[in-house]
Amino acid sequence: MTLAAAPAAEAALLDMITSEGKEDPFPAYDRLRDAAPVFPSELGACFVSTYPECREVLLGDAFGMADSLWFDANQPGWREHPLLRHVYSTMIGNNPPDHSRLRRLVSYAFTARRIESLRSYITELADGILESLAGQAASGEPVDIQSALALPIPIAVMAQLLGVPEQDLPPFRDWVRKCGVMFEVVVSEEELAEGDAAFLAIREYFSELIEERRRDPRDDMTSALVAVRDTDGDRLTEDELVDTLVLLFAAGFETTAGMIGNAVVALDRNPAQLARLREEPGLLGPAVDELTRFDGSIQMSRRVALRDTVVGGVPLSKGTPVVALLGAANRDPEHFPDPGRLVLDRADERPLSFGLGAHYCLGAALARIELEVVLGRLYAWYPGVRLAGSPTRVPGLALRRFSSVPVTLR
Ligand code: HEM
Repeated sequence: MTLAAAPAAEAALLDMITSEGKEDPFPAYDRLRDAAPVFPSELGACFVSTYPECREVLLGDAFGMADSLWFDANQPGWREHPLLRHVYSTMIGNNPPDHSRLRRLVSYAFTARRIESLRSYITELADGILESLAGQAASGEPVDIQSALALPIPIAVMAQLLGVPEQDLPPFRDWVRKCGVMFEVVVSEEELAEGDAAFLAIREYFSELIEERRRDPRDDMTSALVAVRDTDGDRLTEDELVDTLVLLFAAGFETTAGMIGNAVVALDRNPAQLARLREEPGLLGPAVDELTRFDGSIQMSRRVALRDTVVGGVPLSKGTPVVALLGAANRDPEHFPDPGRLVLDRADERPLSFGLGAHYCLGAALARIELEVVLGRLYAWYPGVRLAGSPTRVPGLALRRFSSVPVTLR
């Protein structure tokens, strides 16, 4: 990076955090990538916006998650916040060996069989919801597809996976939404306080569920994780067990719900691609990859430099926070030709939408099934789905999603 590039890169970053930038960060990503692909900003972190350099940050052993020593030095007071303590005690906030241990133990319970067995449940769920919308479809009355379909399915799927009974679900929407601040880089004290309270409520819920499943095991992941804990107690503490369940619920719900809404909007704005998808249902698999590349619900991953290192020719000292802009890497024209075009059957160019390396999304296979089934069933029931007004966005940079997506169903 030349010194002359710094003002342009800083300006692109500042644009990204305005409300227009949050609505559409892609022009700012392009300007940042052109000015300085690896940019140590005055905002206090180094922002990385090209595909190969993001890969390097996610895969390289010079980078990892910030540990408690880093937080003590850089974010004093973090221990006062239960939500932050939670992130840094689960797999998503840890480095090996704790990360590998936690991830392996969860993988015993989160098996391919368990994930695949959810496919028919998701199909039934989607069909039930879509059928119930037939009246509104016939009258042409707009339906908010975000709250009618995109949110209820992932929440029900996480509940089914973890064994949360349906009648206990209503408060989870609000709790998980408030916990979403854990993904963001810019967070107010008020949002953090709400996140803390919501996290403590979910934690208390799961502590009780664990006790119930210990007394009376079922065929769900909570029972499976309790069994891991109880037979392998030296490798999974009771706190880690509760925190893992909270993490799974929080990581698996808003992300997928957001992605469904983003996909419906992207397809509406690209009618020729939508027409192809309706004609060739076999396109659904690659389409899901392309839709997550085009407008993914997680736009960034955070790391710190674990030692002095160099990325893209830029020296970074130990402890520097690094933000890998996954959404910008996914639009890097050197890697994805004509990146601003949605092309459902792009060649396998491996977008970074689910991350990469040690922290690659644990739920990616499940999220893909949910997206395939929900989009497949939506356009099978109502091939003429069209936006019926402007969708409304939830403000946020890291977690990118809509709060409402009005459509007419035909
Ligand atoms: C479209 C939906 C989803 C998207 C876009 C998404 C995206 C991501 C990304 C980018 C990461 C890596 C974070 C990092 O590198 O710092 C991640 C990690 C993770 N995701 Fe997802 N995710 C989705 C759905 C899910 C689901 C359904 C689950 C659970 C069932 C889940 C559970 C997790 C967990 C536990 C991690 C942490 C893995 C680790 O630290 O080893 N995600 N996800």
